[in-house]
Amino acid sequence: MKSFKTQYGYFSQDGREYVITTPRTPRPWINVISNGDYGITVSQTGSGYSWRTHAQLNRITRWEQDLIKDEWGKYIYLRDEKGHVWSAGWKPVCHEPDDYVCRHGIGYSVIESSNFGVNTTLLMFVPNDEPLEIWKLTLRNKTKKLKRLDLFSFFEWGLGQAPDWHREFHKSFIETSYEARLYALFATKRLWEIPTERGHWNTEWGYVAFHSCNVRPVAFDTDKETFLGMYGNQRLPEAVRENKLKKRTGNWLDHIASLQLSITLEPQEEKTICFTLGATEFKDEAAGLIKKYRSPQEVDVALENVRQRWDNLLGTVEIDTPDDATNIMLNTWLKYQAISGRLWARTAYYQTGGAFGFRDQLQDSQIFLPIDATQTKKQILLHARHQFKDGSVYHWWHPISESGLQNKISDNLLWLPFVVNSYLNETNDFTILESREPFVDEANAASLYEHCLRAINKALERFSPRGLPLIGAGDWNDGLSAVGLDMQGESVWLAHFIHRILHDFAAIAETYGAVTQAQNYRNRAQHLKEKINSLAWDGEWYYRATKDNGERIGSRQNLEGKIYLNAQIWAVIAEVADRARAEKVMNAVEKNLEYKAGPILLYPGYKTPDKFIGYLSRYAAGMRENGGVYTHAATWAVIAEALLGRGENAFRMFSKINPINRGKKPDEYCAEPYVTPGNIEGPDSKFYGRGGWTWYTGSAGWLFKVGLEWILGIRPTFAGLVVDPCIPAAWKEFKVRRHFRGAVYLIEVKNPERVNCGLKEILVDGEKYAEHCLSSKPALPIFEAGSTHQIVVTLGKP
Ligand code: GLC
Repeated sequence: MKSFKTQYGYFSQDGREYVITTPRTPRPWINVISNGDYGITVSQTGSGYSWRTHAQLNRITRWEQDLIKDEWGKYIYLRDEKGHVWSAGWKPVCHEPDDYVCRHGIGYSVIESSNFGVNTTLLMFVPNDEPLEIWKLTLRNKTKKLKRLDLFSFFEWGLGQAPDWHREFHKSFIETSYEARLYALFATKRLWEIPTERGHWNTEWGYVAFHSCNVRPVAFDTDKETFLGMYGNQRLPEAVRENKLKKRTGNWLDHIASLQLSITLEPQEEKTICFTLGATEFKDEAAGLIKKYRSPQEVDVALENVRQRWDNLLGTVEIDTPDDATNIMLNTWLKYQAISGRLWARTAYYQTGGAFGFRDQLQDSQIFLPIDATQTKKQILLHARHQFKDGSVYHWWHPISESGLQNKISDNLLWLPFVVNSYLNETNDFTILESREPFVDEANAASLYEHCLRAINKALERFSPRGLPLIGAGDWNDGLSAVGLDMQGESVWLAHFIHRILHDFAAIAETYGAVTQAQNYRNRAQHLKEKINSLAWDGEWYYRATKDNGERIGSRQNLEGKIYLNAQIWAVIAEVADRARAEKVMNAVEKNLEYKAGPILLYPGYKTPDKFIGYLSRYAAGMRENGGVYTHAATWAVIAEALLGRGENAFRMFSKINPINRGKKPDEYCAEPYVTPGNIEGPDSKFYGRGGWTWYTGSAGWLFKVGLEWILGIRPTFAGLVVDPCIPAAWKEFKVRRHFRGAVYLIEVKNPERVNCGLKEILVDGEKYAEHCLSSKPALPIFEAGSTHQIVVTLGKP
């Protein structure tokens, strides 16, 4: 396997680790590690933050968003008897190490460095199902002399809402203590901005935070003033310089945590110290965890369990194609990013959050379909509970406080039926439609089928007199935030999307026995399709939307934002455009929107802010939704190309947005090469090609889905798995191992004639299959759960 080495790092042989070889990457390159409740971010400098359940409402350690300094974190200082001071990560001391490596892995990160004759290996991870993180620090004396070291841990307590912007207010509610018996610092806070039953945030932070280690500390401190020194800084705190912690705890402080350990290392001796940091509901529970993880064996078992969990999650779909960049991303990193970053943590460095986005986490939860579809089901039902009885939904809501935002964004509600359809294609489990869930404003539960109907019917009410859907305060594109504030402007993308949903849901209704409903939706879809094709056609492509005053955006009439990606690709995905038009719009995409980093969202970027478009037009041109590659949408372009059988285009676009390929020019790209970015700056930007907003968008789940289902073409349908690849002609073969409805499919696809697509032969367990209907893409048989089957597919002209 290729390692894609650059001056900053490379992938390990199995692709499971990204090894960063210098702390000075062009931007922080981070890992987002979570167990679904507790989580941490960690950058290659050793900085980052911790939270429980919600990274914004329940941040445990303080962190300030500063991607240039990257100097908020949880740190360990080391000091030798000569007074040399350094840290286990490069930050905060920034001593030039003799060696430095940060390995980001699946569920853990390790920083190894060597300074003043001492090797340190700092391994950070979050055990499964327990609310804490563990830092396992191994020290090795490389010299022939005895070493006496003093270690100081250090971080600032946040304990609640982040950012902690009014520290002088918030610090007044924190209280710390030290318990010698447990070698532990504790912190509580008597205030939390969470609404209570009295409708006011007059309540306690509901946890006890702790920080401990398995070596008896010689001292401790919880006061920033005595630790850093008045007007001091964290590069060389006064307490570290003087080798003495002042043991202050209680109230009236600016609260930090620091434990001081004195360690002696014989020549060549190695010692391991385990630190814990976490937050439990009760102190007893904290004490239990502290004691448990005093044992390095327990720490190793917990780490092994983490590896095991991830192996199980990542192992249900495995691919082997001629393209290593595709293999590494699909086998490991896209799944990891979508699950750890998007579903479990919902936070990172560029966007720190913690809420559930109605459309976002539903889309992301599709990652679980081939892995463990019950997780997707849980997510679907959770979102159903965040719908109002009129069918509308929260744009996003906060777990913990259960407060959310209602707005006039028009597409959110439709992602519920969209993802239900994906779930049904995977599982054929129609009983999900019978699951009963309440509404936000109605305790009486209704079936999921009813929830979906209400969403669709609500969307169908919000139409303009001439028959196109209203865009409201934005559709999928949040930045089109002012196009339809007066509920007059229309969205052409939304029209395509509704067309797709009507068709898909008609098929569901039919199977469910609701034949009239199915027919109604089909009629409505037909009518909508005619309207779109007559009203929204701009001559060479579909325009994107109309403003409240009826003016078009995304039209050749415009000087800026002449053509938008989504209005074209979804015409193909939603089967609104006929074949000729579909090719025409995709040619327009190729000609006007495809650049070196993939298809951009619109062109040219707006240089003049337009208060009738929205904040999209206020971003600098070429940035984010204003003419950048917006990875989430760019992945859909691949689907459209694949639907047309244009295998070279499909894979070229897929490869352009694959971060491994972008990362080959790290000084231009800047972002991590192992996770998808939200956006890459487009040709209108001075920093054309620069990636940003990594970890926190819907791009990873979609890039995975698009790679597996549309390039490799292994696609679930109600009837079963379809194999319908759309690959570059140069590929000779590829393999996929995939679980489907309980059975394992070992699929081998051969391409002797070097075509892009088209089936010539399918062998199922050695026997010819469905020869008579190869052109109609037959579904493979559905096998008994627990069985394994060999599928050999030969591509070629039939
Ligand atoms: C962000 C939002 C997502 C939206 C996209 C496009 O990624 O989280 O919901 O669809 O931007 O504006």
